[in-house]
Amino acid sequence: MSTILPSRKRGESVLPSRVSAHPRDAIQNLITRFWTACGLLAFVEIGVADCLANERRRSTKALAKDCRVDPDALGRLLAALAPQGLVAAEAETGAWYLCPAGERLINSRDDSLRSAVWTCGHPDYRQMLQMLPELVTSGTLPLPDFYSPRTFRNTAPGEEAESGQWEPQMPHAGQTILSMIRAFGDFGALLVAAEQRWADHLSDGALSVTELAERVGAEPGPVAAIAKALIGIGILTELPEDRYQLTEAGHTLRYGRPDSMRPAILMNAHPVWWDAIWNLTHVVQRGQPFLPPPHTSAYDVLRQDPDAQNLFDLFMSRRSAPVAYALGEWAATAAVPDGATFVDVGGGRGTLLAALLTALPTCRGVLLDRPVVIAQARTYLADHNVADRCEMSGGDFFAAIPQGGHTYVLGSVLHNLGDAAALHLLQLIRAAMTDGSAQLLCVDVLLPDGPQPHVGLGLLLRMMSLFPGGHERTITEYVALLHKAGFAVAATSSLPHGLSLVVARPTLS
Ligand SMILES: C[S@@+](CC[C@H](N)C(=O)[O-])C[C@H]1O[C@@H](n2cnc3c(N)ncnc32)[C@H](O)[C@@H]1O
Repeated sequence: MSTILPSRKRGESVLPSRVSAHPRDAIQNLITRFWTACGLLAFVEIGVADCLANERRRSTKALAKDCRVDPDALGRLLAALAPQGLVAAEAETGAWYLCPAGERLINSRDDSLRSAVWTCGHPDYRQMLQMLPELVTSGTLPLPDFYSPRTFRNTAPGEEAESGQWEPQMPHAGQTILSMIRAFGDFGALLVAAEQRWADHLSDGALSVTELAERVGAEPGPVAAIAKALIGIGILTELPEDRYQLTEAGHTLRYGRPDSMRPAILMNAHPVWWDAIWNLTHVVQRGQPFLPPPHTSAYDVLRQDPDAQNLFDLFMSRRSAPVAYALGEWAATAAVPDGATFVDVGGGRGTLLAALLTALPTCRGVLLDRPVVIAQARTYLADHNVADRCEMSGGDFFAAIPQGGHTYVLGSVLHNLGDAAALHLLQLIRAAMTDGSAQLLCVDVLLPDGPQPHVGLGLLLRMMSLFPGGHERTITEYVALLHKAGFAVAATSSLPHGLSLVVARPTLS
């Protein structure tokens, strides 16, 4: 298989050399840690550790039966938590067993940390985190040492408090759990900074707590507490005389940046997004996303909430900006014929398409997305000087795919879909390809086949919580899906944010 940028070997999970880590990744990692902590909550609420206690080994199916949950959803939850050292699967049988950190979640153990995790699932705690920006503004942040692990000393209803487990010499397995739990508070601090636009206020230089509090219209006490938390996660640094300044990662939260991470944080705090990820237990139990009825997909919710739709489109466009840049670099050296047409299917505001057309001045584009998104895309494409080469198509990609394009683009679309729907969409695209040299570009996470850590594992949990059947796919699953739809993978390469580019061509039918 030839590669256009350095290719990722099967199972390789770290960013290869060309796609060097960017300060933006620090924010993405914090968001991923938050999603993974919600996965830990589901792990505890479902009682996986108790089902695997006493060195028991269970296939996903048997374990799902014991825990009374959906086997596919459970398999994905465990895949996302395995790299954290909670569970592992036997190489030969695939049977799951507990690792030392997972054992610390067995209910009957004297030193069980189950109740510490459980506490984080309490509705009051969840609501308090979501309201943190307001609490900081009003000065009523209830716990001055909110971010200390001691905060989590509470017990679940009917349980005895643990003793001594928060001591610094706590064994490594316990630290793993505590560090996962800390992701909730860390996300709360990020949320305060994002909502109150701390990065914009600090962009011209360091400020004292008093100055910062005055600028963001909040009380100095809580501002100081949040500032300490932000130092702990690498967003701020402390200078002499109690002054704080942004780190490089902190700068990526600035409002006006084309690749700003601020919308990503705000999107995660949107009530529907927030409830969905905190209710992973329901998602795993039912094998369905957690959405307000009668909605079955997050896109249904967005259709009825223009503000949320706007935030989502902005978030996607900011997230895709660095990916688009890399795609533009690829396009500049790719063998694309003059005058070729790019069809961006589910293209959002056209971030990827604009970069491709900028790199290929003779080419034309068709942007297909839901009508409400297309309405906003016109401005984006005009701002990037490609609107005159671009046709806008507002509609359902399951109803009609524009025929005869040279290159079809699917950017972060397949992970919103279950396997049957994804296959159907790919087959529609395959049928629309009448040009003999047509190709498909997919931008998506390619999860490693093995249990290595990957930023896409958090996204896997996120997709499950919002879209019916939505999930990230392993490299093997992705290649098999494309093959089934009549495509062969010609090349893969790594992109920012842990994403990959997959170039696929139709197989001879
Ligand atoms: C995750 S976003 C990706 C946007 C863009 N491709 C990018 O990479 O920035 C998925 C897009 O698919 C669109 N979409 C979802 N279902 C669709 C449908 N049935 N028909 C057309 N577009 C759809 C959404 O509106 C959204 O803009």
